[in-house]
Amino acid sequence: MCGIVGHVGDEQATPILLDGLRRLEYRGYDSAGLAVHGSNGIQIVRAVGKLRNLEKALAAKGLPGTVGIGHTRWATHGRPSEVNAHPHVAGPIAVVHNGIIENHLELRAELEANGFTLSSDTDTEIIAHLIHRETRAGHDMVTAIRRSLERVDGAYAIAVLSEKEPRRVVVAKSASPLVIGVAKGATYCASDIPALLPYTNEMLFLEDGEIAVLEADGFTLSTLQGTPLSRRLRRISWSPVMAERAGYKHFMLKEIFEQPRALEDTLRGRLDRELADVSTPEIGLSEDDAKRIQRVILLACGTSHHATIAGRYWLEELAKVPAITELASEFRGRDAVVGESDLVIAVSQSGETIDTLMAAKEAKERGAKVLAIANVNGSAIPRMADASFYTHAGPEIGVASTKCFMAQLANLLMFSIWLGRRRETIDEGLASELIEGLARVPHVIEERLPGTLEAVSEIVQDFSEARDVLFLGRGLSYPMALEGALKLKEISYVHAEGYAAGEMKHGPIALLDAHVPVIVLMPQDRHYERVSSNMQEARARAAKIIGVTTAGDTQGQALCDRFVEVGPTHEALSPFVTVVPLQLYAYCVADHKGTDVDQPRNLAKTVTVE
Ligand code: G6P
Repeated sequence: MCGIVGHVGDEQATPILLDGLRRLEYRGYDSAGLAVHGSNGIQIVRAVGKLRNLEKALAAKGLPGTVGIGHTRWATHGRPSEVNAHPHVAGPIAVVHNGIIENHLELRAELEANGFTLSSDTDTEIIAHLIHRETRAGHDMVTAIRRSLERVDGAYAIAVLSEKEPRRVVVAKSASPLVIGVAKGATYCASDIPALLPYTNEMLFLEDGEIAVLEADGFTLSTLQGTPLSRRLRRISWSPVMAERAGYKHFMLKEIFEQPRALEDTLRGRLDRELADVSTPEIGLSEDDAKRIQRVILLACGTSHHATIAGRYWLEELAKVPAITELASEFRGRDAVVGESDLVIAVSQSGETIDTLMAAKEAKERGAKVLAIANVNGSAIPRMADASFYTHAGPEIGVASTKCFMAQLANLLMFSIWLGRRRETIDEGLASELIEGLARVPHVIEERLPGTLEAVSEIVQDFSEARDVLFLGRGLSYPMALEGALKLKEISYVHAEGYAAGEMKHGPIALLDAHVPVIVLMPQDRHYERVSSNMQEARARAAKIIGVTTAGDTQGQALCDRFVEVGPTHEALSPFVTVVPLQLYAYCVADHKGTDVDQPRNLAKTVTVE
């Protein structure tokens, strides 16, 4: 995790670096710091806590200069403290780093034996000292960095300043993300696109094993071994406004309200209503490939994992293909059975989650074809995959994922329809019904959003003190129950469990009493009657029932203490509507409690550590 930024140009670096860090704060926010090259050499300011603390420290000190680097931290090695905050300095070198150096203990011992004194507990400081040692031996900055990185095992994206080469920032990467941005008279780097959007749309994603020297008039690129490289810049279509709060109290609320648009953008050009088919040339599978797939393995983490469970149900039902979901972290290193007849779908909002990336790589090495579903164009997972099927949700800033989840559901359903048509397991009538219905979903969500927010915030007044909450659903509502519980845990710190409704009697029922609200998803689908019975069982234990019901379902609503209505859809489309009140429930509880909705404690949006 962590976010890094860098700037070389003619303008003052500090405001640009701070602005970049503000847009990267979602990646980590337990301390932050800047290093700027001014007339008196490199100066550093660091502060513990949120970025505003760094801003205060800078107001007192000021950091004049036009070349600089910055960092916002999510602690891995060493607790959050000023001394552990980046940039780390050794002699003339200052370094910011995102990632983990695995052999740091061995390198630390070696450096200490060589007489270097390390002042922090971090793995990053070691990189600074290694580079310092190489510059002392007479190497220029790039050679010193190359030689140092040869010694390092692990994941890194680094940006380096040297007092000896004042008009440069040098960047390098392995596993952690790094983007370079080029504008007239200035060159930038950052961990993620939104940090650079106010300055440029012309970007280049650094690949593993590459190093770049940034100067005011552009950059040079080479491999760590010294082979020069040249690659075209990519034009990023996101606008800076997309990464602003636009009057909403929190990014999360804005992103929940952006879901209809995120869905429309993701569906655009892909639904062929006339042919009752989905048009997705980017999937990179021929008709024959589609028929030959023996099994689909869906790999993901966190919220994306919940989307894959719905994806599994759709694939089985519509494409009649065996499908399994795997938590990427569990798939790795356990010698899971995977081979050429498998299609692996790696789902990740950021496209950078290290467990998903490494699990998909492992599967690819064993012969499986990998399809990436990601939201960030050109990110690591799509780059390693055989083909990519992007979601178009726009930048998601709130740490708790909402609109990207919605867009992932859309891609997984579209893919299931596409595959079903190729395998002739879904008839034209059903495909057409689903495509028509899916095209209407953005409207069905949008027209109810303001009313749902009002209804949910009223319900929350009565339940915000609950210490435990149970979410129940069956079929496609089961992964939505998991997602509702995760959202609540993430941002309001309330203990919540998502459960398959049929499993309640095998455990959670023992926890029920009048203090435990049970949120039940009960769209009018094939599971409706059985879910109603589970509700009765919970009611009989005095639990308070909050129902997510279809509009006008008075029979279901009569079983609830409180209820929220969602718009009617085809039963296969119910996840798109039922998840929205759950996102809003988590949001309203967190807002009521006054927690930090967009940057919940201990979490980070992009998890580049294992
Ligand atoms: C983190 C985020 C979650 C996200 C998960 C997977 O834990 O806080 O919101 O679902 O990573 O991220 P990905 O980018 O792979 O979807």
